[in-house]
Amino acid sequence: MDSIGNRPIWLTYDAQVDVFRVTGGAPLEGTVAVPGAKNSVLKLMAATLLAPGTSILTNVPDIEDVTIMAELLRRLGCDVDQSGDRVCITVPATPDHRADYDLVRKMRASICVLGPLLARCGAADVAVPGGDNIGSRGLDMHVDGLRKLGAVVHNEHGYLLAEAKQLSGAHIVLEFPSVGATETLLMAAVTAKGETVLENVAREPEIVDICRMLVDMGAKVDGIGSSTLTVQGVQELHPVEHRVVSDRIVAGTWAVAAVMTQGRVTVSGVAPKYLELPLEKLVSAGAELSVEDQGFTISMSERPTSVDIVTLPYPGFPTDLQPQFIAMNSIANGAALVTENLFEARFRFVQELSRLGADVRTDGHHALIRGKSELSGAPVEATDIRAGAGLVLAGLVAKGETIVYGVSHIDRGYAGFVDVLQKLGADIARVAE
Ligand code: EPU
Repeated sequence: MDSIGNRPIWLTYDAQVDVFRVTGGAPLEGTVAVPGAKNSVLKLMAATLLAPGTSILTNVPDIEDVTIMAELLRRLGCDVDQSGDRVCITVPATPDHRADYDLVRKMRASICVLGPLLARCGAADVAVPGGDNIGSRGLDMHVDGLRKLGAVVHNEHGYLLAEAKQLSGAHIVLEFPSVGATETLLMAAVTAKGETVLENVAREPEIVDICRMLVDMGAKVDGIGSSTLTVQGVQELHPVEHRVVSDRIVAGTWAVAAVMTQGRVTVSGVAPKYLELPLEKLVSAGAELSVEDQGFTISMSERPTSVDIVTLPYPGFPTDLQPQFIAMNSIANGAALVTENLFEARFRFVQELSRLGADVRTDGHHALIRGKSELSGAPVEATDIRAGAGLVLAGLVAKGETIVYGVSHIDRGYAGFVDVLQKLGADIARVAE
């Protein structure tokens, strides 16, 4: 027994780190504003590389991944100034074109500099990010697409080395609507010679956001928001000021938290249309919902009813809300089947959830959750951002105290996670272990 209770033995070897101490039972009540989306801002920061001069991004979330991306851009020769929710990026006439492994390994999304560096510099050397805790995460569609645009790409000593004096337009059909591959190829195509048609692309609101920013920078992109993008290459782009789209996954996380704790929360600054399926599922679980153009109020007065979900590319149910919904199903009335189609290892976190007493069985892409009337607090380890969020949500309803380790994962994607929950009335604190 130590100052924060019983812990699994393997955790006793950690260096001093922060943990979240959560005591379940308080219903969440209040209003929360949602910041800009992690999965948009990182790509928008990379897209600024396409134009020399100073671009400004606003509504930027205060998260660790933005700090890492800022550091990466500085290494490429940019001047990056972060102040409040505003980031000014000054891109030199000739940026460096190498993204080193020490930063890429910290954040897989660093791969998003590949397309703009190749377009701007005629070459890009980007460390291969490798797999992570949610799966193997291939890059074949990025590479095949760049080759179709005329680049020579090979993998040497852990780096993707891409070269092309001048990219040329091409017709590319993605095997799967990959978010990352869509962004890489779009950013490479905007200054390629001639027309590029990208078919079967991702249609996430974050893709629409980057398309709009590129158009404001002078790019010619048609079909925004559809599964086919047609790009007419232009010679050069110019800097821009752009407001980052709000984070629908953060908004969805607060909505699930409100439902699980049988509270009432107003989420502002996000378009509910980007969360159509998750909000519908919460209504099926028994929640009351009222929506406005830029926000919604969700409340719950009873134990939720289990809901089945199947993750798919947008507008399907987002994989980034799957762990939060598994957490909800673990305390719901009935049994639910959750099918994960994007990241094969995203169910790893259920082993941690079962430490709180959840009854979850997984088989390949499927998880069967039998709702329990009660979970009981325990020490658990977050293995990725969304798993971390799911575990904290479970802790908010578990009896007694839950200690969440691995909170650096949560810091990567949620701005002021503990502050928001405290403001909504949760009994949660960040403590140094
Ligand atoms: N894939 C390939 N080959 C490729 C590209 C993708 O096999 O060339 C596979 C991946 O291995 C994965 C699936 O396709 O199994 C989906 O990958 P996708 O490229 O769509 O995802 P991503 O760009 O790597 C982004 C988000 C993820 C989010 C997914 C799906 C960022 C930084 N990351 O990842 O966000 O889950 O899209 O919506 O934008 C998170 O925020 O927690 C997170 C993981």
